[in-house]
Amino acid sequence: MADLRSDFVGIKSPNPFWLASAPPTDKEYNVRRAYEAGWGGVVWKTLGMEGPPVVNVNGPRYGAIWGADRRLLGLNNIELITDRPLEVNLREMKAVKRDYPDRALIASIMVPCEEEAWKAILPHVEETGADGIELNFGCPHGMAERGMGSAVGQVPEYIEMVTRWCKQYTRMPVIVKLTPNITNVLYPAEAAKRGGADAVSLINTINSITSVDLDLFAPEPMIDGKGTHGGYCGPAVKPIALNMVAEIARNPETADMPISGIGGVTTWRDAAEFLALGAGNVQVCTAAMTYGFKVVQEMISGLSEYMDDKGMTSVDQLVRRAVPNVTDWNQLNLNYVAKAKIDQDLCISCGRCFAACEDTSHQAIAMSEDRTFSVIDDECVACNLCVNVCPVEDCISMVELAPGTTDPRTGKPVDPNYANWTTHPNNPSATAAE
Ligand SMILES: Cc1cc2nc3c(=O)[nH]c(=O)nc-3n(C[C@H](O)[C@H](O)[C@H](O)COP(=O)(O)O)c2cc1C
Ligand code: SF4
Ligand code: SF4
Repeated sequence: MADLRSDFVGIKSPNPFWLASAPPTDKEYNVRRAYEAGWGGVVWKTLGMEGPPVVNVNGPRYGAIWGADRRLLGLNNIELITDRPLEVNLREMKAVKRDYPDRALIASIMVPCEEEAWKAILPHVEETGADGIELNFGCPHGMAERGMGSAVGQVPEYIEMVTRWCKQYTRMPVIVKLTPNITNVLYPAEAAKRGGADAVSLINTINSITSVDLDLFAPEPMIDGKGTHGGYCGPAVKPIALNMVAEIARNPETADMPISGIGGVTTWRDAAEFLALGAGNVQVCTAAMTYGFKVVQEMISGLSEYMDDKGMTSVDQLVRRAVPNVTDWNQLNLNYVAKAKIDQDLCISCGRCFAACEDTSHQAIAMSEDRTFSVIDDECVACNLCVNVCPVEDCISMVELAPGTTDPRTGKPVDPNYANWTTHPNNPSATAAE
């Protein structure tokens, strides 16, 4: 069995699956049960400064988007950081760490953007025996209005400044959690690095309104007739998170900075994708909130089996494996040609591919009188739309045309040589091909 042990910025855990800072990690009761279920680490629900804790709403704090089978695809929340006293959280963290020394325990922190506030809380956190801290520069609602969370995460200079304070006032590794509510994730990631961060984690939640009550005319979740934007997470945000992780992993300025990948991880496969795109480990929130702590067991066994199949003996061998294959559009091979192919044995004659291609693509699918659907190679540009709308998995596939064979659409033989937009004759700024 593959060795899933993980060493993330010197923080060891039996596997690379950590629970993200959120309700699953809000208290000792939860965290003990999470460790028992098999989670390798936990980022405790974000701690605030000493004094009266924050106050949450006393009504619905979640909204959601579902698939046709009512499976939860996206979760929206308007919850704040922990609403339990700091000393209670610290006491519980200490007890948990004492009893589970082999598991990672990270303290997520959000205090005002003042040096004294960070200087004051760090020794208390260190005293719990926590393995590291995560700076919550991500929450987009409630705390942002008070100048914290994403309000800090959207200003690279603040990220750099606070990270530097933390590096100065604690010996614990510092992980900077980034907000996706920005134009370019490289600015905050580079700022974290300049500030001396040991790692970044991403993504926190995305600003969102999931639905509007069309009788009461207010966004949901609704509190006494009014709603506000919340933070979006779950499977729906995974593509956004994967892209941001990949951007940081392939950016020369940040490529050597460890990344904790977060956003929609639900299965071992999601986790493997994050690892392949450059994450050193992953964090999970919505999947645990939807299916319970035991969801980690499928992640552990699935990743382990996959690694065995691939002959990988340690997680490190998977990390960054896909990064060299992430490129810019202008580097894609324009001489690569494929065609769609329909497997008639699998086809259920629903006609979705026909409607999609006929109305919105290249009129490259023919429908016979007996509802047999076939691809017209003379028209097909291999856009993949039919594959994506077909309800039957693997019913339509993309088949590469061998170099040298004639593409019936263009009438030209497929060029075996790689050539991209930078040298293409239609590109007014093309450089001469080598
Ligand atoms: C109800 C809820 C509360 C959250 N609270 C926090 C928090 O206190 N601190 C934090 O850093 N992130 C918080 N998050 C964000 C998660 O840690 C995570 O970044 C996000 O949910 C994306 O992961 P997921 O798609 O696996 O849920 C919260 C998320 C949810 C759903
Ligand atoms: S790949 Fe695109 S162009 Fe080709 S048949 Fe499918 S939808 Fe039509
Ligand atoms: S969408 Fe798929 S199943 Fe439906 S007709 Fe096209 S190929 Fe057949």
